[in-house]
Amino acid sequence: MPVVDSPRMSVGEATAVAHPNLALVKYWGNRDHALRIPANGSISLTLGGLQTRTQVRFDSGLDRDQLTINDQPAEPAAQERVTGHLNLIRELAGKRVPALVSSQSDFPQEAGLASSAAAFAALTLAGCAAAGLKLDRRELSSLARRGSGSAARSLYGGFVELVAGEDHRSSFAQPLAPADHWKLIDLILLVSRESKVTGSTAGHAAADTSPLQAARVADAPRRLQECREAISTKDFARLTEVVEQDSDMMHAVMMTSTPALHYLQPLTLAVMASVRSLRALGVAACYTVDAGPNVHCLCLPEGEQSLRETLEGLSPNQEILRAMPGEAAWLV
Ligand code: DP6
Repeated sequence: MPVVDSPRMSVGEATAVAHPNLALVKYWGNRDHALRIPANGSISLTLGGLQTRTQVRFDSGLDRDQLTINDQPAEPAAQERVTGHLNLIRELAGKRVPALVSSQSDFPQEAGLASSAAAFAALTLAGCAAAGLKLDRRELSSLARRGSGSAARSLYGGFVELVAGEDHRSSFAQPLAPADHWKLIDLILLVSRESKVTGSTAGHAAADTSPLQAARVADAPRRLQECREAISTKDFARLTEVVEQDSDMMHAVMMTSTPALHYLQPLTLAVMASVRSLRALGVAACYTVDAGPNVHCLCLPEGEQSLRETLEGLSPNQEILRAMPGEAAWLV
C-alpha cells in the first residue's frame, strides 16, 4: 500500500543494531496470529557475535517504502512485512511518510538463525527513533513482537523471557539475567545456508493441527521454571535437560502438524547424537534446533575445544559460527 500524502514529517533518520537470539524454551504457535500473541512463554539467550544493523529514514520525497537487505532490493513479501510494521510505527506517531530502510546482517538469513528476531528488533528501535516516538523498552518489545514474535526478546541482552500475556500490552519480553551472568558459548553448525521452504509464520499457523501441541503448551510453565532456575543457579546439567527436551518437543509438534514440517536433516541428527556422546564422556554440552536444519551447540568455555573438534570431525567442510551472550539492541 503506498503511503504518500500528508507529509507532516519530512525527514527523520535513525540506525539501530540488534543481535539475534537463541530460544532455550521455544515459542511455537500463536494464541492470536494477527497480534502474534504466543501460545506459550519463551526464554532466550541474546547472541553476541552475530548482528543486524538497520537504518530507517522517513522521507516525504518517496512515493512508497523501500527496503534493501544486504544492499539488494528486498523480495516483495519481505517488503510487505516491513511496510506492515512501519505502518504500526506510523500509526503510533500519527504520520504517513514513506521510509527508506536498509538492513545489513553478518549471518545467513532465513535459515533458522532467528534473522527475523534481529531484523524486527533493529527495525522497531530505529523506526521508532526516526519517527520521534518515545517508547520504553517494554513497549518497544511488545511492538517488535508484532513484527516477529522472537524479536521481542532481542530488545534485551543476556537471558530474556517473553511473557506470553493475554493481549498486546501484556505480551512483552523482560530480562532474566545480564549477558555477563553466565559465560555460555554457542557453536552453530551450519548444516545449510539456504532459506527454509516453510517460514516460522506458516509453521506457527499449523502448530494447532498437531495433537501434540496442546500437551507441549500445557507443560510450558514447568519447562520455563526449570529453565529460569537452571539460569539463575548456572546449572548446566539442568539447562541441558530442559533445553534438549524443549527442542525435541517443538520438532515433534512440527513433524506431526498438517502440513508436516521436517526441519531436521541427517547431519542435524548426527550432530545431536555426537553432542549426546560427548556429554557421556563428561563434556558439558547440549543441542537445540530452531526452525531450520542448523544446530546450536551450547557449552561452557572449558568444553569449547572438545565440542569444536567433535563438530569438525563430524563434518570437516561445514561452517561453524560462534556466539556468546550479547547485549540489548541499541541505537547507533
Ligand atoms: C523456532 O519469531 O521467527 O525460533 O513471529 O512468525 O516471525 P514469527 O516467528 P519467529 O518464530 C520463532 C520460532 C523459533 C522459536 C523461538 O525463537 O522461540
